[in-house]
Amino acid sequence: MKIILLGPPGAGKGTQCKRISERYGAAHLSSGDILRAERKAGTQLGKEAQRYMDSGALVPDQLIIDMMIGAIKKCPKGYLLDGFPRTVVQGEALDKALAAAGEKIDAILNLQIDDSVIIARMSGRRSCSKCGAVYHVSNQPPKVAGICDSDGEMLSQRPDDKPEVVENRLKTYHAQTAAVVGYYQKVGRKVIDIDADKSVDAVSKAIFVKLDALK
Ligand code: AP5
Repeated sequence: MKIILLGPPGAGKGTQCKRISERYGAAHLSSGDILRAERKAGTQLGKEAQRYMDSGALVPDQLIIDMMIGAIKKCPKGYLLDGFPRTVVQGEALDKALAAAGEKIDAILNLQIDDSVIIARMSGRRSCSKCGAVYHVSNQPPKVAGICDSDGEMLSQRPDDKPEVVENRLKTYHAQTAAVVGYYQKVGRKVIDIDADKSVDAVSKAIFVKLDALK
């Protein structure tokens, strides 16, 4: 299964990809997670990406395209693209790479949610820097406050979840990423809208109904 998840920052793409991956077995390829791992490892890509990520801007297209097309090639059995493509240029590059490989995307899901809900979600998000598990202080709390359920590591807040950076990320989304939905519609691809302003379980259920229907 090859799926793209679109949607603004904090819509729940990562949370839902984890569940989709568990149910259908496709690899979760999050451009944000890959960039954070590159930063942690101190690679050249991580260093170049840092200033863009910390300000809420997008990392330059060509760096992301090379990184994500490379990741996709390692997952021939299927993947969930989370955070990519994020510009029309990235969408076109992905289409070109898929056409060259004779592959196609099975479904494009668009998680829809209002900016006001997003701000509350981002301010409460906590994540584990070791295993990447994502929680929310009130919506999805860990069993012990501040500690990861899976590995007992301390949870932390992402630096780009500070209110002023979140504001920039939302501006960037509306200015550059929202157009990706229009791009897919223009090239005749069906985009499946999902109401993401529901409980995590209700959003998963709505997604599974759509994905089960593809089989
Ligand atoms: P990235 O890491 O991709 O951030 P994002 O798209 O902004 O998405 P998030 O990870 O913030 O949110 P999410 O939708 O996954 O929500 P989550 O499930 O965590 O990108 C970071 C940066 O990297 C970018 O700003 C950019 O600089 C760079 N970058 C990445 N990709 C790029 C690209 N393609 N091109 C250029 N630059 C790129 O949920 C959020 C919170 O809400 C959590 O606490 C969760 O527990 C909670 N929650 C989730 N669902 C629900 C629900 N239904 N109800 C209540 N709470 C919920």
